[in-house]
Amino acid sequence: MFEQIERSDEAVRQLEAVVPAYQEVYAEPPYRESPQDAVDFLLRARRQATRDGFRLILARAANELVGFSFGYWLPADTSWWSAVQEPLGEVFVKESGRRTFNVAELAVRRPWRRQGIAAELHRRLISGLDAERITLTMRPESEAAPAQRAYAAWGYQNVGRARHGDTSPAYDVMVLSMR
Ligand SMILES: CC(C)(COP(=O)(O)OP(=O)(O)OC[C@H]1O[C@@H](n2cnc3c(N)ncnc32)[C@H](O)[C@@H]1OP(=O)(O)O)[C@@H](O)C(=O)NCCC(=O)NCCS
Repeated sequence: MFEQIERSDEAVRQLEAVVPAYQEVYAEPPYRESPQDAVDFLLRARRQATRDGFRLILARAANELVGFSFGYWLPADTSWWSAVQEPLGEVFVKESGRRTFNVAELAVRRPWRRQGIAAELHRRLISGLDAERITLTMRPESEAAPAQRAYAAWGYQNVGRARHGDTSPAYDVMVLSMR
């Protein structure tokens, strides 16, 4: 039911099959993304697939793709923390390329929710990594309660707010300590 892909070329091939699931999930509120956003997702995800440590986990039920998650190491020269509005301190934001693993995507299609699929995708995504911490961003509580509940249940803590660009909505920046 779960498949793990770490080779970039294979991931790039498989990401195409993820697009319909992405489009379905993110057409929902609060995201209300357009078909063009799904095209942008694929372009972004293909670039992310070449990042150090990229790992893609797929969940299938009866051969249908029902959920996916992927992530990679934050590089030493990442701008990830500079998007956070709150001051985090020099030591906190210092990256080595092997300090922090970024969960870039996690989604489960609506009919398969509340069956522990996201929990298993997340568990597999970060399993065996010698990371000090895991980080991700999510929309605030009022907008994305299931994601907020899930990450809180798994031990993530909010370290601040960030925007991915000038027109981007605000995101909560979350960190899960592995030590
Ligand atoms: C967030 C999401 C991935 C959760 O997927 P899921 O497979 O339903 O999650 P799980 O069944 O593994 O649930 C894990 C825990 O999250 C919490 N949770 C998940 N959905 C919840 C909901 N609707 N209400 C309250 N708590 C919820 C619970 O603590 C749950 O554990 P429990 O079922 O043992 O109580 C899914 O709702 C989704 O794809 N949402 C849209 C996309 C999205 O927001 N992705 C995250 C972007 S950062």
